Amino acid sequence: MTAPPAAAIEVRRLTYADLPEVVAIERRAFTSAWSLAMFVLELSKPSGICLAAVVERELAGYLICSRYDTVWHIMNVAVDPELRRRGIATALLSHVLERVHQDAQLTLEVRRSNAGAITLYESFGFRSAGVRRRYYQDNGEDAIVMWRTPATLRGTLDDVPGT
Ligand SMILES: CC(C)(COP(=O)(O)OP(=O)(O)OC[C@H]1O[C@@H](n2cnc3c(N)ncnc32)[C@H](O)[C@@H]1OP(=O)(O)O)[C@@H](O)C(=O)NCCC(=O)NCCS
Repeated sequence: MTAPPAAAIEVRRLTYADLPEVVAIERRAFTSAWSLAMFVLELSKPSGICLAAVVERELAGYLICSRYDTVWHIMNVAVDPELRRRGIATALLSHVLERVHQDAQLTLEVRRSNAGAITLYESFGFRSAGVRRRYYQDNGEDAIVMWRTPATLRGTLDDVPGT
């Protein structure tokens, strides 16, 4: 299949009707996949940002972001394996940043071995600010805790909680 151009990526709100395709991508993307019930719970939260990326009318990726008090937590982002490195996750993250306040604090956990995702997050100003030892139960892997705040955008961790 010829890769579609980046211009063909549409980002819109994720809906319950998308969830069968979301779960199919999720199972291909992660060794410990979220269940359907976990996606339903996140979609039910009125303060969250849940986005779908659509390419040629097919769900190509999704992003789940929850709000906890003043902090936005990127809980899940995944792209169809056949459609990676075409800017789909970039489009999803860009939309999140358009939706939150410019001084917003965002955080996420990522597997230490997931160098591609870490590079992606760094390109948006996220910085590693800590480690949760053996966070992932399937293989005991550490999580890198990343933050994107006004301070990380200036090159420091001054306003990152817990540092
Ligand atoms: C991580 C993931 C969401 C990236 O999605 P994507 O749509 O392919 O990402 P993009 O095309 O927007 O990538 C943007 C940039 O991020 C970096 N990047 C993304 N994936 C990468 C990889 N596998 N290796 C190295 N760099 C990578 C590159 O700098 C890339 O720019 P380039 O393609 O011009 O070099 C996708 O690989 C995925 O679904 N992985 C499985 C699930 C996962 O690990 N999610 C993150 C959990 S924290």
